[in-house]
Amino acid sequence: MALLEVESLSRRFGGLTAVDNLSFSVEEGAIHGLIGPNGAGKTTTFNVIGGFYRPSGGRVIYDGRDISGMATHAIAALGLVRTFQATTLFHELTVAENVLVGCHLTARSGLLGVILGAGEERRRDAETRVGEILAFMGLDGLAGDPCANLPHGLQRALGLAVALAARPKLLMLDEPFTGMNPEETRRMMDLIRQVRDSGVTILLVEHDMRAVMGLCERITVLNFGGLLAEGGPEAIRADPDVVEAYLGAPVREAAPCFSK
Ligand SMILES: Nc1ncnc2c1ncn2[C@@H]1O[C@H](COP(=O)(O)OP(=O)(O)OP(=O)(O)O)[C@@H](O)[C@H]1O
Ligand SMILES: [Mg+2]
Repeated sequence: MALLEVESLSRRFGGLTAVDNLSFSVEEGAIHGLIGPNGAGKTTTFNVIGGFYRPSGGRVIYDGRDISGMATHAIAALGLVRTFQATTLFHELTVAENVLVGCHLTARSGLLGVILGAGEERRRDAETRVGEILAFMGLDGLAGDPCANLPHGLQRALGLAVALAARPKLLMLDEPFTGMNPEETRRMMDLIRQVRDSGVTILLVEHDMRAVMGLCERITVLNFGGLLAEGGPEAIRADPDVVEAYLGAPVREAAPCFSK
């Protein structure tokens, strides 16, 4: 069953069509890739799905309901949560405090209520949840550390932990592997699989082709805002249109970034 259906979605900025009549669907329980060259419209697609931008045309159906044009917090409250291309942590807060913020992103009384001491019971529940998430992500030994002291790979893992705190059913990840060394990449791949295995569907935007090919069962390729190709990793890797879109010139053999 499809958890997310994007139907003829468009988003224009003045004369520029960033997302162009795009349709694809994400099966429940999948790790689904959304790839394409720089400027192809991947982040804009996330922004429209997540309610940060209104669609110029088309619809987004999530969990059987039309969420097109709904407010971001209402969409997040339904379990559709995203991470951002750049890290958006609070560097002056500790690791645990950052995850606590995530717990309250979708809560009705909000973070302010927690800071002001409202809802003691809710606060204790949230603290328990923070502990569980940090343990799940292997970050529990760092709970009290200032976030600013974490190495890059752990900051990205913490970004994922913050998103998990909002209890996602569908998690959209925008380039979680950026700037990672091979060891950090392997670790993040394991974490993403672990999150999926815990029951969260994943929509992954990423330029690291090894990570995309290693993780995704299905891949949607964008070019100039529109659908270029869709299929399993083997088919996408071998698709000359996809390779050409990435390299900007026709090639006969798969480019190195598409090799195993
Ligand atoms: N708020 C905006 N106003 C005007 N143009 C925008 C806006 N957001 C995105 N764009 C344009 O839309 C196009 C798609 O951008 P988008 O950020 O979605 O690409 P992307 O596929 O995420 O690229 P990258 O891989 O570099 O992150 C680009 O031409 C970009 O300049
Ligand atoms: Mg982007």
